[in-house]
Amino acid sequence: MEDSRKSHKPHCLVLSFPVQGHINPMLQFSKRLIHKGAGVTFVTTRFMSKTLHGLSSNPSISLETISDGFDDGGMKAASSLEAYLDRFWKIGPETLSELVERLISSGRPPSCIVYNSFLPWALDVAQKYGLVGAVFFTMSCAVSSVFYHCQKGLLEVPVRKQVLLPGMPPLEPQDMPSYVSDPESYPANLGVLVGQFSNLDKVDWVLCNTVYELEQELVDWFMKVMPFRTIGPTVPSSYLDNRLEQDTEYGLSIFQPEHDTTMKWLSTKPKGSVVYVSFGSVAELKIDQMQEIAMGLKRSNRYFLWVVRSSEEDKLPQDYAKETAQKGLIVTWCPQLEVLAHEALGLFLTHCGWNSTLEALTLGVPMMAIPQWTDQPTNAKHIMDVWKMGLRPPVDERGVVRSEDIENCIREIMEGERGKEMRENAGKWRKITKEAVSEGGSSDRNIEEFVASLIDKL
Ligand code: UDX
Repeated sequence: MEDSRKSHKPHCLVLSFPVQGHINPMLQFSKRLIHKGAGVTFVTTRFMSKTLHGLSSNPSISLETISDGFDDGGMKAASSLEAYLDRFWKIGPETLSELVERLISSGRPPSCIVYNSFLPWALDVAQKYGLVGAVFFTMSCAVSSVFYHCQKGLLEVPVRKQVLLPGMPPLEPQDMPSYVSDPESYPANLGVLVGQFSNLDKVDWVLCNTVYELEQELVDWFMKVMPFRTIGPTVPSSYLDNRLEQDTEYGLSIFQPEHDTTMKWLSTKPKGSVVYVSFGSVAELKIDQMQEIAMGLKRSNRYFLWVVRSSEEDKLPQDYAKETAQKGLIVTWCPQLEVLAHEALGLFLTHCGWNSTLEALTLGVPMMAIPQWTDQPTNAKHIMDVWKMGLRPPVDERGVVRSEDIENCIREIMEGERGKEMRENAGKWRKITKEAVSEGGSSDRNIEEFVASLIDKL
């Protein structure tokens, strides 16, 4: 297909929200678009582009920038999230329009804008220039459905009782995204998430980083109400179908992984023996929670690899790393994909960020779910009750999971009957996620259909 249509290549502008958890999936999707015969210009903010070193080494993807109004400091330079969004919403559309005009006049006109769902104004820019508009959701279909129902006024916020939504198991308040169960804590965030659905009646495509088979009933429902397609998981190809050359990592990391230390340590551990603990790139744990995890790991007497970002290190009990050195390794960041793929892994204690969740499903690692905020509680619910790939221990009156529950969960998953079932399910999901992006799989067909429709419009 690529050869015969080389002269008719659609050109996609892929516009990301400037945080790592959103850039990585859109970058990976860009690689899939290129594989199917599209050209890609990846667009992020001027400030964020300074950290995208990995991207400049990929010759197939050109990089362009727009402004969020904070070219020197990005989001952290704004006085509040509200102030950041306010300015971004004014400057972003102007600078995106300038970019489109510049590309048109330089003979590289875009055919389409694939934009992060957090930036709904990009659709107006696409339509102003007669381009196809495709919104890209980086969260699960279930989480998107919750915000969709909020936007339509079908879900009363704050959610205080059990909710039944199409295609999903009953959700209790603690299974809801935190912005919906506790909206006062994050009013600006809730606005962004609900705003994702404000103009979808005008959009040409809705692309979601999930796998059809993971959320089948809900995807079928979404497909009836909008031009919805699943395209995930956006995990590098070498862990899945291995069809994209040299696609072995995301190529972008804000933190420097302690690669050699981590992999060397893991290589000395028996198969299935290690508990891997990580709370992603954003979450800030309560000090009590940190101490309970520390105690729980110690009590379990299992090997553990714990990612504690340097900003979180002072919450660890004093001398903990030294005292547990026989059993544990604490690093500030690690090559998570390589870690999850390692045969020494037995369990992933996770905050249930969507990328981590998809990675664990793809690599077949059972999980202990300790969600912190945003979409994580809903992902945790699915990990435990829908995909049956993990357990979510209870929280106490402080909202903290206690060390004895952590210890019990570790035992249950690594030694118990339920753990056996989870490992069987892990094998099943591993196969399904791999098939989805392989030739003729559900996501592969959807990406092919998307690119073919752009080619038809040329
Ligand atoms: C944020 C939100 O917190 C999350 O809820 C949402 O679903 C996505 O955006 P983050 O907290 O960083 O993301 O979590 P997650 O989505 O799991 O992404 C973390 C990424 O960092 C993963 O791709 C993981 O592989 C990587 N990682 C994590 C490392 O490479 N090394 C580490 O040590 C830890």
